[in-house]
Amino acid sequence: MNDAFLLAARGEHVEKIPVWFMRQAGRSLPGYRKLREKYDLLTLTQTPELAAQVSLEPIERLDVDAAILFADIMLLPIALGIPVRIVESVGPVIDEPVRTIEDLKRFKPFARENISYLERTIRLLRGTLQVPLIGFSGAPFTLASYLIEGAPSRTWTRTKQCMYESPELWRGLMELLSEAIIGYLGAQIDAGAQAVQIFDSWVGCLSPEDYRIYVLPHMQRIFSALKEKNVPRMHFGTNTAGLLADFLNVDCEVIGVDWRIELAAAKRIIGGKSLQGNLDPATMLADWSVIQASVDRMFSQIDTHQGYIFNLGHGVLPETNDLTLRKLVEYVHGK
Ligand code: CP3
Repeated sequence: MNDAFLLAARGEHVEKIPVWFMRQAGRSLPGYRKLREKYDLLTLTQTPELAAQVSLEPIERLDVDAAILFADIMLLPIALGIPVRIVESVGPVIDEPVRTIEDLKRFKPFARENISYLERTIRLLRGTLQVPLIGFSGAPFTLASYLIEGAPSRTWTRTKQCMYESPELWRGLMELLSEAIIGYLGAQIDAGAQAVQIFDSWVGCLSPEDYRIYVLPHMQRIFSALKEKNVPRMHFGTNTAGLLADFLNVDCEVIGVDWRIELAAAKRIIGGKSLQGNLDPATMLADWSVIQASVDRMFSQIDTHQGYIFNLGHGVLPETNDLTLRKLVEYVHGK
């Protein structure tokens, strides 16, 4: 069993720097693209044998040190009874978005039987994996933003409007999602996930002040509730350089950062917690010499053999060559 990822997550010393990639199980891999010719994303994620196959592909092909469950953050709203469509080259679309307090009545409480396919995928994976398995969920803000906007947004105007103008609806939605996330991640851990990551992909659009008022208490509630599960809890968002000091008030083992902050600066803020990141995914489209120089610059800033997990600063871009990813893993392992 290769446990470098878990050791690093817990802040311990490792011989080899552990590597995994957000969105490693997906469009940059030929096996996945082939499966997608036959099945849509939701079918793939909801069919345990196929989902397990997709999760395993990067382990074999890239030699990464952790697997991530093949799922999507929108599976949770679906389990709560909210229909979601994943639209090609757009993303998640919700035809009846959340706009009034009445809309909260459309949510069913979280029940494990509505994600039993994920529990089965996890058990299948644990039967074959030699590296740890990461479970995940979207964070309440990021999920709420899809639910309120109805489609991907780059300004999150309606989400912020709801936050400012409908405090009761905002609080109701955030509380409902937080409870569901606790149940959802608890179920994944009980089925065998050995670490969990919460993706707050879009929370960096908020000011630190708004983050503290409208989001932080809910993040604190979720992470504290998961503590008793005793697996590393990872907290990731993009554009969060200005929020990292507030992230310190959320109980977790690992903080993931994107490339808009240097590792040394992030480490100075997060102190004793483990750090994950943060190569710009676009770097992977450049010549190898550029990639190598970027990694060397990153690694000159911190102690990479204690409390550090190598990753990109966000998901692998679809046009990334998997052979370059493989070469990068080898390069990091050689450091
Ligand atoms: O390899 C992995 O990381 C595991 C699988 C995974 C998917 N989604 C599968 C997927 C993970 C971890 C996610 C998380 C996710 N989903 C996030 C948080 C991480 C992030 O990137 O910020 C978000 C915001 C979503 C919502 C979502 N799902 C979007 C925006 C899209 C479409 C655009 C895109 O980035 O692909 C999806 C669809 C989706 N989820 C695909 C995959 C492999 C692409 C489906 C396809 O076209 O084949």
